[in-house]
Amino acid sequence: MRPARALIDLQALRHNYQLAREVSGARALAVIKADAYGHGAVRCAMALESEADGFAVACIEEALELRAAGIRAPVLLLEGFFEADELALIVEHDLWCVVHSLWQLEAIEKAPLSKPITVWLKLDSGMHRVGLHPADYQAAYQRLLACGKVAKIVLMSHFARADELHSTSAIEQVAVFEAARKGLSAQVSLRNSPALLGWPQVPSDWVRPGIMLYGATPFEEANAVAARLQPVMTLESKVISVRELPAGEPVGYGAKFITPRPMRIGVVAMGYADGYPRQAPTGTPVLVAGQRSQLVGRVSMDMLCIDLTDIPHAGLGSTVELWGKNILASDIAAAADTIPYQIFCNLKRVPRLYNEG
Ligand SMILES: Cc1ncc(COP(=O)(O)O)c(C=O)c1O
Repeated sequence: MRPARALIDLQALRHNYQLAREVSGARALAVIKADAYGHGAVRCAMALESEADGFAVACIEEALELRAAGIRAPVLLLEGFFEADELALIVEHDLWCVVHSLWQLEAIEKAPLSKPITVWLKLDSGMHRVGLHPADYQAAYQRLLACGKVAKIVLMSHFARADELHSTSAIEQVAVFEAARKGLSAQVSLRNSPALLGWPQVPSDWVRPGIMLYGATPFEEANAVAARLQPVMTLESKVISVRELPAGEPVGYGAKFITPRPMRIGVVAMGYADGYPRQAPTGTPVLVAGQRSQLVGRVSMDMLCIDLTDIPHAGLGSTVELWGKNILASDIAAAADTIPYQIFCNLKRVPRLYNEG
């Protein structure tokens, strides 16, 4: 059997969720959209259900997968519904629903709902992606109250640059939010992972941690709270072939790496078809047989090459950690000019093995 696999540490997931609650002192919706950022939404939800205040997903398809697996906790649809006929399912499955646009508000007003729903009313406080315009926010709130189809409203917004700790953007967005919600007595939800970890002064009755649950920092710089996160996913494989090469020999597609000295090269069963980033350059860290080494040459679809020259005890069959507890996914992301979010979401083909802890 091909040795590539992703080990998922559910105890680390629970630790990170508890850290989110402890740091924020708020209720926390575990963001498990996109198959829990590649970690497996159903298994992650099951691991957290006894302690989680609820979950957040991108769309009703993701929510229904959780309900079908028996998850009864609150589930918020972060983009609400895409078509008005989803409202009947939202009622039937007792889902919470973001309203980010006036067309959604109108659809709720018109829909014959058999039961009132919980709405999270989203403000565009400056990100300019989705969310109601500040000028429309109070009127939208009043219309939701008046239509008789809404049991509870939570006021929410989302940050564009909370991961940039020296930017004033988050504070400016909070000011826009505070002005827009003036006089409304409802719970609020603003903080995603970077805001939760980096902006303690931002109000939030409900926090929405995503990336931090999986143990990766959203920041480029060091952060004391982020340092307490535990990586959840370990992507590992094995050395399946070893080459002894003299100096001056090319390695891999495009001959992008030429051995500068006699080298021992290990071939690892892991490639971009598994989600390992093809952009990762020579020098990207790996752990082989417990020791740090580095990638050499281009990443292929199913294989990649690493340097074994100075690790004589490593060879055929040695275990290789591509990211995990020792090699941080955020370091791989930085090397490949992307973010840990994408590194995790890109995982495919590799079987996921769960450790309950
Ligand atoms: C509205 C909303 N809240 C929370 C999150 C979680 O963000 P993070 O993974 O940065 O914690 C997301 C993810 O993109 C989101 O779209």
